[in-house]
Amino acid sequence: MTEIRRLLPETGIMSGPTSVERLTERGFERAMARAMLMTPSDIIAEVSQSGIKGRGGAAFPTGLKWSMVSQAPGAQKYVVMNADESELGTFKDRVLLEQDPLGPLSGLVIAAHAVGARKAFCYIRGEYREVEQVLAAAIETLRRVGLVGPDTVEVEIRRGAGAYIAGEETALFNSIEGMRPEPRVKPPFPTNKGLWGSPTLIQNVETLANVAVLFAHDVEWFKAYGTKDTPGTKLVALSGHIHRPGVYEVPFGTPVADILNAPELGGSVAGTGRLGAVLLGGAAGTFLNAAEVQNTLLDYPSLSKVGASIGSGAMMVFDDTVDLTWVLTKMARFFAEESCGQCVPCRIGTRRILEIAESGNLWSRTQDLRELGQAMRDASICGLGQTAPLALLSALDRPELRHHD
Ligand SMILES: Cc1cc2nc3c(=O)[nH]c(=O)nc-3n(C[C@H](O)[C@H](O)[C@H](O)COP(=O)(O)O)c2cc1C
Ligand code: SF4
Repeated sequence: MTEIRRLLPETGIMSGPTSVERLTERGFERAMARAMLMTPSDIIAEVSQSGIKGRGGAAFPTGLKWSMVSQAPGAQKYVVMNADESELGTFKDRVLLEQDPLGPLSGLVIAAHAVGARKAFCYIRGEYREVEQVLAAAIETLRRVGLVGPDTVEVEIRRGAGAYIAGEETALFNSIEGMRPEPRVKPPFPTNKGLWGSPTLIQNVETLANVAVLFAHDVEWFKAYGTKDTPGTKLVALSGHIHRPGVYEVPFGTPVADILNAPELGGSVAGTGRLGAVLLGGAAGTFLNAAEVQNTLLDYPSLSKVGASIGSGAMMVFDDTVDLTWVLTKMARFFAEESCGQCVPCRIGTRRILEIAESGNLWSRTQDLRELGQAMRDASICGLGQTAPLALLSALDRPELRHHD
Protein backbone atom coordinates (compact mmCIF):
# COMPACT_ATOMS: atom_id res chain seq x y z
CA MET A 1 0.00 0.00 0.00
CA THR A 2 1.74 3.14 -1.14
CA GLU A 3 0.69 6.72 -1.13
CA ILE A 4 -0.40 8.11 -4.49
CA ARG A 5 0.60 11.63 -5.50
CA ARG A 6 -1.59 13.13 -8.16
CA LEU A 7 -3.49 15.93 -6.46
CA LEU A 8 -0.48 16.50 -4.23
CA PRO A 9 2.71 17.24 -6.19
CA GLU A 10 4.95 14.27 -6.92
CA THR A 11 7.98 13.91 -4.65
CA GLY A 12 11.10 15.21 -6.35
CA ILE A 13 9.33 18.07 -8.06
CA MET A 14 11.83 20.93 -8.40
CA SER A 15 9.86 24.11 -9.04
CA GLY A 16 8.40 26.42 -6.37
CA PRO A 17 4.66 26.02 -5.69
CA THR A 18 3.71 29.40 -7.16
CA SER A 19 6.27 29.58 -9.99
CA VAL A 20 5.56 29.63 -13.72
CA GLU A 21 7.79 26.56 -13.98
CA ARG A 22 5.39 24.67 -11.69
CA LEU A 23 2.63 25.24 -14.23
CA THR A 24 4.69 23.38 -16.81
CA GLU A 25 6.16 20.77 -14.48
CA ARG A 26 2.74 19.69 -13.19
CA GLY A 27 1.06 19.88 -16.62
CA PHE A 28 -1.39 22.65 -15.62
CA GLU A 29 -0.35 24.88 -18.50
CA ARG A 30 -1.17 22.00 -20.83
CA ALA A 31 -4.44 21.38 -18.98
CA MET A 32 -5.64 24.97 -19.40
CA ALA A 33 -4.45 25.18 -23.01
CA ARG A 34 -6.31 21.96 -23.85
CA ALA A 35 -9.50 23.14 -22.14
CA MET A 36 -9.40 26.58 -23.80
CA LEU A 37 -9.37 24.89 -27.20
CA MET A 38 -12.46 22.83 -26.30
CA THR A 39 -16.07 23.96 -26.43
CA PRO A 40 -17.70 24.44 -23.02
CA SER A 41 -20.00 21.47 -23.67
CA ASP A 42 -17.03 19.22 -24.53
CA ILE A 43 -15.29 20.27 -21.30
CA ILE A 44 -18.41 19.50 -19.28
CA ALA A 45 -18.79 16.15 -21.05
CA GLU A 46 -15.21 15.23 -20.08
CA VAL A 47 -15.76 16.21 -16.45
CA SER A 48 -18.93 14.09 -16.42
CA GLN A 49 -17.15 11.09 -18.00
CA SER A 50 -14.37 11.31 -15.41
CA GLY A 51 -16.94 10.66 -12.66
CA ILE A 52 -15.52 13.40 -10.39
CA LYS A 53 -17.79 14.05 -7.41
CA GLY A 54 -17.57 17.04 -5.08
CA ARG A 55 -14.94 16.62 -2.38
CA GLY A 56 -16.42 19.19 0.02
CA GLY A 57 -18.67 16.60 1.66
CA ALA A 58 -21.85 16.10 -0.35
CA ALA A 59 -20.27 14.18 -3.28
CA PHE A 60 -22.53 15.83 -5.86
CA PRO A 61 -21.51 14.88 -9.45
CA THR A 62 -19.31 17.74 -10.65
CA GLY A 63 -20.08 17.48 -14.38
CA LEU A 64 -23.82 17.67 -13.66
CA LYS A 65 -23.35 20.79 -11.56
CA TRP A 66 -21.31 22.43 -14.33
CA SER A 67 -23.98 21.68 -16.93
CA MET A 68 -26.69 23.13 -14.65
CA VAL A 69 -24.74 26.40 -14.26
CA SER A 70 -23.88 26.51 -17.95
CA GLN A 71 -27.54 26.06 -18.94
CA ALA A 72 -28.95 28.45 -16.34
CA PRO A 73 -30.21 31.69 -17.89
CA GLY A 74 -28.20 34.80 -17.03
CA ALA A 75 -25.57 36.97 -18.67
CA GLN A 76 -23.46 37.22 -15.50
CA LYS A 77 -22.15 34.00 -13.92
CA TYR A 78 -19.68 33.35 -11.12
CA VAL A 79 -17.37 30.56 -10.01
CA VAL A 80 -16.22 30.14 -6.42
CA MET A 81 -13.48 28.07 -4.81
CA ASN A 82 -14.60 27.05 -1.33
CA ALA A 83 -11.47 27.07 0.86
CA ASP A 84 -13.28 27.82 4.12
CA GLU A 85 -12.27 24.41 5.53
CA SER A 86 -13.65 24.64 9.04
CA GLU A 87 -14.91 21.07 9.49
CA LEU A 88 -13.35 19.49 12.58
CA GLY A 89 -10.30 17.39 11.78
CA THR A 90 -10.14 18.61 8.18
CA PHE A 91 -6.93 20.19 6.90
CA LYS A 92 -6.44 18.72 3.43
CA ASP A 93 -7.34 21.86 1.45
CA ARG A 94 -4.77 23.76 3.46
CA VAL A 95 -2.04 21.27 2.54
CA LEU A 96 -3.16 21.25 -1.09
CA LEU A 97 -3.10 25.05 -1.30
CA GLU A 98 0.27 25.26 0.44
CA GLN A 99 1.91 22.62 -1.71
CA ASP A 100 0.27 23.13 -5.09
CA PRO A 101 -2.03 26.17 -5.31
CA LEU A 102 -1.78 26.34 -9.09
CA GLY A 103 -3.70 23.04 -9.35
CA PRO A 104 -7.00 24.16 -7.80
CA LEU A 105 -6.60 27.58 -9.47
CA SER A 106 -6.17 25.92 -12.89
CA GLY A 107 -9.36 23.96 -12.16
CA LEU A 108 -11.08 27.25 -11.32
CA VAL A 109 -9.96 28.85 -14.62
CA ILE A 110 -11.20 25.80 -16.56
CA ALA A 111 -14.52 25.89 -14.66
CA ALA A 112 -15.00 29.58 -15.48
CA HIS A 113 -14.41 28.91 -19.15
CA ALA A 114 -16.83 25.96 -19.12
CA VAL A 115 -19.76 27.76 -17.48
CA GLY A 116 -19.14 31.19 -19.04
CA ALA A 117 -18.04 33.08 -15.93
CA ARG A 118 -15.71 36.08 -16.06
CA LYS A 119 -15.43 36.54 -12.33
CA ALA A 120 -14.20 34.08 -9.72
CA PHE A 121 -13.79 34.21 -5.95
CA CYS A 122 -11.57 32.17 -3.64
CA TYR A 123 -13.18 32.17 -0.20
CA ILE A 124 -10.50 31.22 2.30
CA ARG A 125 -10.67 30.42 5.99
CA GLY A 126 -9.68 33.53 7.97
CA GLU A 127 -7.10 31.69 10.07
CA TYR A 128 -5.23 30.54 6.96
CA ARG A 129 -3.22 33.78 6.66
CA GLU A 130 -0.02 32.14 5.37
CA VAL A 131 -1.97 29.99 2.93
CA GLU A 132 -3.74 33.09 1.66
CA GLN A 133 -0.36 34.61 0.80
CA VAL A 134 0.59 31.52 -1.20
CA LEU A 135 -2.76 31.62 -2.97
CA ALA A 136 -2.34 35.33 -3.80
CA ALA A 137 1.14 34.67 -5.23
CA ALA A 138 -0.23 31.83 -7.37
CA ILE A 139 -3.01 34.10 -8.71
CA GLU A 140 -0.32 36.68 -9.61
CA THR A 141 1.59 34.01 -11.52
CA LEU A 142 -1.53 33.18 -13.55
CA ARG A 143 -2.08 36.89 -14.15
CA ARG A 144 1.49 37.28 -15.44
CA VAL A 145 0.98 34.54 -18.03
CA GLY A 146 -2.43 35.93 -19.07
CA LEU A 147 -4.59 33.10 -17.71
CA VAL A 148 -6.17 35.39 -15.12
CA GLY A 149 -7.20 38.93 -16.00
CA PRO A 150 -9.75 41.07 -17.77
CA ASP A 151 -9.60 39.03 -20.99
CA THR A 152 -10.11 35.68 -19.26
CA VAL A 153 -11.38 35.51 -15.68
CA GLU A 154 -10.74 37.88 -12.78
CA VAL A 155 -9.98 36.10 -9.53
CA GLU A 156 -10.45 37.75 -6.16
CA ILE A 157 -9.69 36.40 -2.67
CA ARG A 158 -12.24 36.85 0.12
CA ARG A 159 -11.38 35.92 3.71
CA GLY A 160 -13.75 34.31 6.21
CA ALA A 161 -13.85 35.46 9.83
CA GLY A 162 -14.02 32.30 11.89
CA ALA A 163 -17.58 31.02 11.39
CA TYR A 164 -18.02 27.31 10.56
CA ILE A 165 -21.34 28.10 8.87
CA ALA A 166 -19.64 30.41 6.35
CA GLY A 167 -18.45 27.25 4.50
CA GLU A 168 -22.05 26.41 3.62
CA GLU A 169 -22.40 27.59 0.07
CA THR A 170 -25.27 30.08 0.41
CA ALA A 171 -23.95 31.47 3.72
CA LEU A 172 -20.64 31.93 1.91
CA PHE A 173 -22.40 33.92 -0.83
CA ASN A 174 -23.96 36.18 1.79
CA SER A 175 -20.55 36.66 3.35
CA ILE A 176 -19.01 37.64 -0.01
CA GLU A 177 -21.91 40.03 -0.56
CA GLY A 178 -21.09 41.70 2.77
CA MET A 179 -23.95 40.25 4.81
CA ARG A 180 -24.11 37.93 7.81
CA PRO A 181 -23.17 34.37 6.83
CA GLU A 182 -26.67 32.94 7.20
CA PRO A 183 -27.71 30.18 4.82
CA ARG A 184 -30.44 30.88 2.30
CA VAL A 185 -33.47 28.67 1.81
CA LYS A 186 -32.98 26.27 -1.11
CA PRO A 187 -34.42 26.18 -3.76
CA PRO A 188 -33.46 28.27 -5.59
CA PHE A 189 -30.11 26.49 -5.78
CA PRO A 190 -26.81 28.30 -6.41
CA THR A 191 -26.66 26.84 -9.92
CA ASN A 192 -29.57 29.18 -10.77
CA LYS A 193 -29.39 31.90 -8.14
CA GLY A 194 -26.13 32.23 -6.24
CA LEU A 195 -23.95 35.30 -5.86
CA TRP A 196 -26.00 38.49 -6.38
CA GLY A 197 -28.84 36.31 -7.69
CA SER A 198 -26.78 35.01 -10.63
CA PRO A 199 -25.96 31.40 -11.57
CA THR A 200 -22.93 30.38 -9.52
CA LEU A 201 -20.67 27.35 -9.56
CA ILE A 202 -19.12 26.62 -6.17
CA GLN A 203 -16.57 23.84 -5.73
CA ASN A 204 -14.30 22.61 -3.03
CA VAL A 205 -10.53 23.16 -3.45
CA GLU A 206 -9.86 19.42 -3.88
CA THR A 207 -12.62 19.07 -6.51
CA LEU A 208 -10.94 21.77 -8.59
CA ALA A 209 -7.54 20.09 -8.17
CA ASN A 210 -9.11 16.94 -9.64
CA VAL A 211 -10.27 18.95 -12.66
CA ALA A 212 -6.72 20.26 -13.20
CA VAL A 213 -5.10 16.82 -13.18
CA LEU A 214 -7.88 15.43 -15.38
CA PHE A 215 -7.23 18.03 -18.08
CA ALA A 216 -3.47 17.64 -17.73
CA HIS A 217 -4.10 14.02 -18.79
CA ASP A 218 -7.34 12.38 -19.93
CA VAL A 219 -10.33 10.39 -18.68
CA GLU A 220 -8.61 7.03 -19.08
CA TRP A 221 -5.61 8.19 -17.02
CA PHE A 222 -7.95 9.64 -14.41
CA LYS A 223 -9.89 6.40 -14.04
CA ALA A 224 -6.79 4.25 -13.61
CA TYR A 225 -7.23 4.66 -9.85
CA GLY A 226 -10.36 4.32 -7.79
CA THR A 227 -13.49 2.23 -8.22
CA LYS A 228 -16.15 1.98 -10.91
CA ASP A 229 -18.52 4.01 -8.75
CA THR A 230 -15.94 6.57 -7.69
CA PRO A 231 -12.91 6.96 -9.93
CA GLY A 232 -9.80 8.78 -8.78
CA THR A 233 -8.10 9.48 -5.49
CA LYS A 234 -9.11 11.12 -2.22
CA LEU A 235 -7.17 13.21 0.24
CA VAL A 236 -7.66 12.03 3.80
CA ALA A 237 -6.65 13.99 6.90
CA LEU A 238 -5.52 11.68 9.70
CA SER A 239 -5.42 12.97 13.27
CA GLY A 240 -5.71 11.78 16.85
CA HIS A 241 -4.23 8.47 18.06
CA ILE A 242 -2.23 7.71 14.95
CA HIS A 243 1.52 7.36 14.57
CA ARG A 244 1.79 9.38 11.37
CA PRO A 245 -0.88 12.11 11.42
CA GLY A 246 -1.16 14.13 8.21
CA VAL A 247 -2.71 14.36 4.79
CA TYR A 248 -2.47 11.36 2.46
CA GLU A 249 -3.76 10.73 -1.03
CA VAL A 250 -5.26 7.28 -1.58
CA PRO A 251 -7.32 5.67 -4.34
CA PHE A 252 -11.05 5.34 -3.67
CA GLY A 253 -11.66 1.73 -2.65
CA THR A 254 -8.64 1.56 -0.31
CA PRO A 255 -9.46 -0.45 2.84
CA VAL A 256 -10.01 1.98 5.70
CA ALA A 257 -7.80 -0.24 7.90
CA ASP A 258 -4.91 0.16 5.43
CA ILE A 259 -5.16 3.93 5.66
CA LEU A 260 -4.64 3.66 9.41
CA ASN A 261 -2.05 0.91 9.43
CA ALA A 262 0.10 1.00 6.29
CA PRO A 263 3.65 2.13 7.18
CA GLU A 264 3.58 4.80 4.41
CA LEU A 265 0.18 6.08 5.57
CA GLY A 266 -1.07 6.25 9.17
CA GLY A 267 1.57 3.80 10.40
CA SER A 268 -0.83 2.21 12.97
CA VAL A 269 -2.89 3.31 15.96
CA ALA A 270 -0.98 5.22 18.64
CA GLY A 271 -1.86 5.50 22.36
CA THR A 272 -2.63 1.96 23.57
CA GLY A 273 -2.30 0.71 19.99
CA ARG A 274 -5.84 -0.69 20.25
CA LEU A 275 -8.45 1.05 18.12
CA GLY A 276 -11.57 2.33 19.85
CA ALA A 277 -13.28 4.26 17.07
CA VAL A 278 -12.73 6.41 14.01
CA LEU A 279 -14.78 9.54 13.39
CA LEU A 280 -15.05 9.74 9.62
CA GLY A 281 -16.00 13.07 8.02
CA GLY A 282 -15.57 15.37 11.02
CA ALA A 283 -18.25 16.64 13.38
CA ALA A 284 -20.86 16.18 10.63
CA GLY A 285 -19.62 12.60 10.13
CA THR A 286 -20.04 9.09 11.50
CA PHE A 287 -18.27 6.95 14.09
CA LEU A 288 -16.99 3.58 12.91
CA ASN A 289 -16.14 0.84 15.39
CA ALA A 290 -13.05 -1.33 15.09
CA ALA A 291 -14.86 -4.12 13.18
CA GLU A 292 -16.28 -1.64 10.67
CA VAL A 293 -12.87 -0.10 10.15
CA GLN A 294 -11.56 -3.59 9.47
CA ASN A 295 -14.23 -4.48 6.91
CA THR A 296 -14.95 -1.25 5.03
CA LEU A 297 -13.46 0.35 1.96
CA LEU A 298 -13.07 4.08 1.38
CA ASP A 299 -15.86 4.23 -1.16
CA TYR A 300 -19.42 5.52 -1.03
CA PRO A 301 -21.26 2.18 -1.58
CA SER A 302 -19.08 0.33 0.95
CA LEU A 303 -19.44 3.03 3.59
CA SER A 304 -23.16 3.48 3.06
CA LYS A 305 -23.63 -0.16 4.16
CA VAL A 306 -22.54 0.94 7.65
CA GLY A 307 -24.45 4.21 7.45
CA ALA A 308 -21.34 6.31 6.86
CA SER A 309 -19.98 8.59 4.17
CA ILE A 310 -16.56 9.98 3.33
CA GLY A 311 -17.54 13.59 3.98
CA SER A 312 -14.54 15.87 3.77
CA GLY A 313 -12.10 12.98 4.26
CA ALA A 314 -11.32 13.73 7.92
CA MET A 315 -10.39 10.64 9.95
CA MET A 316 -10.07 11.24 13.69
CA VAL A 317 -8.66 8.19 15.42
CA PHE A 318 -9.45 7.31 19.05
CA ASP A 319 -7.76 4.52 20.97
CA ASP A 320 -9.81 2.34 23.33
CA THR A 321 -9.22 4.57 26.37
CA VAL A 322 -11.00 7.61 24.96
CA ASP A 323 -14.31 8.40 26.59
CA LEU A 324 -16.60 9.21 23.65
CA THR A 325 -19.08 10.88 26.00
CA TRP A 326 -16.48 13.62 26.42
CA VAL A 327 -15.95 13.84 22.65
CA LEU A 328 -19.70 13.95 21.97
CA THR A 329 -20.21 16.68 24.57
CA LYS A 330 -17.48 18.78 22.97
CA MET A 331 -19.07 18.32 19.56
CA ALA A 332 -22.50 19.22 20.96
CA ARG A 333 -21.04 22.47 22.26
CA PHE A 334 -19.42 23.13 18.91
CA PHE A 335 -22.74 22.82 17.06
CA ALA A 336 -24.68 24.85 19.62
CA GLU A 337 -22.13 27.64 19.26
CA GLU A 338 -21.83 27.47 15.48
CA SER A 339 -25.57 27.28 14.69
CA CYS A 340 -26.46 30.60 13.07
CA GLY A 341 -29.74 30.53 15.00
CA GLN A 342 -31.88 31.33 12.00
CA CYS A 343 -34.19 28.29 12.22
CA VAL A 344 -35.78 26.70 15.28
CA PRO A 345 -34.97 22.97 14.82
CA CYS A 346 -31.26 23.71 14.69
CA ARG A 347 -31.10 26.61 17.15
CA ILE A 348 -33.10 24.79 19.82
CA GLY A 349 -32.10 21.24 18.82
CA THR A 350 -28.36 21.85 19.16
CA ARG A 351 -29.00 23.48 22.60
CA ARG A 352 -31.13 20.53 23.78
CA ILE A 353 -28.47 18.03 22.73
CA LEU A 354 -25.85 20.05 24.63
CA GLU A 355 -28.05 20.18 27.73
CA ILE A 356 -28.58 16.41 27.65
CA ALA A 357 -24.86 15.83 27.12
CA GLU A 358 -23.85 18.17 29.96
CA SER A 359 -26.37 16.57 32.32
CA GLY A 360 -24.59 13.24 31.78
CA ASN A 361 -27.63 11.53 30.23
CA LEU A 362 -26.44 10.96 26.68
CA TRP A 363 -26.62 7.18 26.81
CA SER A 364 -29.88 6.93 28.78
CA ARG A 365 -32.00 9.41 26.78
CA THR A 366 -31.41 7.75 23.44
CA GLN A 367 -35.09 7.82 22.41
CA ASP A 368 -35.35 11.58 23.06
CA LEU A 369 -32.11 12.15 21.18
CA ARG A 370 -33.29 10.07 18.22
CA GLU A 371 -36.54 12.06 17.97
CA LEU A 372 -34.69 15.33 18.31
CA GLY A 373 -32.21 14.22 15.66
CA GLN A 374 -35.01 13.25 13.27
CA ALA A 375 -36.71 16.63 13.67
CA MET A 376 -33.41 18.42 13.01
CA ARG A 377 -32.72 16.33 9.94
CA ASP A 378 -36.23 16.87 8.56
CA ALA A 379 -36.77 20.53 9.33
CA SER A 380 -33.45 22.42 9.46
CA ILE A 381 -32.82 24.87 6.65
CA CYS A 382 -29.24 23.86 5.95
CA GLY A 383 -26.68 21.11 6.24
CA LEU A 384 -25.42 22.25 9.64
CA GLY A 385 -28.68 21.49 11.43
CA GLN A 386 -29.33 18.45 9.25
CA THR A 387 -25.98 16.85 10.05
CA ALA A 388 -25.40 18.10 13.62
CA PRO A 389 -26.99 14.98 15.22
CA LEU A 390 -25.38 12.43 12.87
CA ALA A 391 -22.17 11.64 14.76
CA LEU A 392 -24.09 11.43 18.02
CA LEU A 393 -26.72 9.10 16.55
CA SER A 394 -23.99 6.93 15.00
CA ALA A 395 -22.40 6.60 18.46
CA LEU A 396 -25.75 5.69 20.05
CA ASP A 397 -26.16 3.00 17.36
CA ARG A 398 -22.83 1.53 18.51
CA PRO A 399 -23.23 1.10 22.29
CA GLU A 400 -19.93 -0.79 22.40
CA LEU A 401 -18.23 2.60 21.96
CA ARG A 402 -19.49 3.75 25.33
CA HIS A 403 -16.66 4.03 27.80
CA HIS A 404 -17.28 2.47 31.20
CA ASP A 405 -15.05 3.70 34.00
C1 LIG B 1 -21.98 23.90 7.79
C2 LIG B 1 -21.36 23.59 6.49
C3 LIG B 1 -20.01 23.89 6.29
C4 LIG B 1 -19.41 23.62 5.06
N1 LIG B 1 -18.09 23.91 4.92
C5 LIG B 1 -17.49 23.65 3.73
C6 LIG B 1 -16.11 23.96 3.54
O1 LIG B 1 -15.44 24.48 4.43
N2 LIG B 1 -15.56 23.66 2.34
C7 LIG B 1 -16.29 23.10 1.32
O2 LIG B 1 -15.77 22.87 0.23
N3 LIG B 1 -17.59 22.79 1.48
C8 LIG B 1 -18.21 23.06 2.65
N4 LIG B 1 -19.53 22.79 2.79
C9 LIG B 1 -20.27 22.26 1.61
C10 LIG B 1 -20.65 23.40 0.67
O3 LIG B 1 -21.93 23.88 1.07
C11 LIG B 1 -20.75 22.95 -0.79
O4 LIG B 1 -21.56 21.81 -0.86
C12 LIG B 1 -19.40 22.64 -1.44
O5 LIG B 1 -18.53 23.74 -1.35
C13 LIG B 1 -19.60 22.27 -2.89
O6 LIG B 1 -18.39 21.91 -3.47
P1 LIG B 1 -18.10 20.42 -3.99
O7 LIG B 1 -19.29 20.00 -4.85
O8 LIG B 1 -16.86 20.56 -4.80
O9 LIG B 1 -17.94 19.55 -2.80
C14 LIG B 1 -20.17 23.03 4.02
C15 LIG B 1 -21.51 22.72 4.22
C16 LIG B 1 -22.10 22.99 5.43
C17 LIG B 1 -23.53 22.63 5.62
S1 SF4 C 1 -29.83 24.77 10.16
FE1 SF4 C 1 -28.74 25.91 11.78
S2 SF4 C 1 -27.03 26.86 10.77
FE2 SF4 C 1 -28.47 26.20 9.16
S3 SF4 C 1 -29.79 27.98 8.81
FE3 SF4 C 1 -30.81 26.79 10.37
S4 SF4 C 1 -30.04 27.65 12.32
FE4 SF4 C 1 -28.66 28.36 10.73
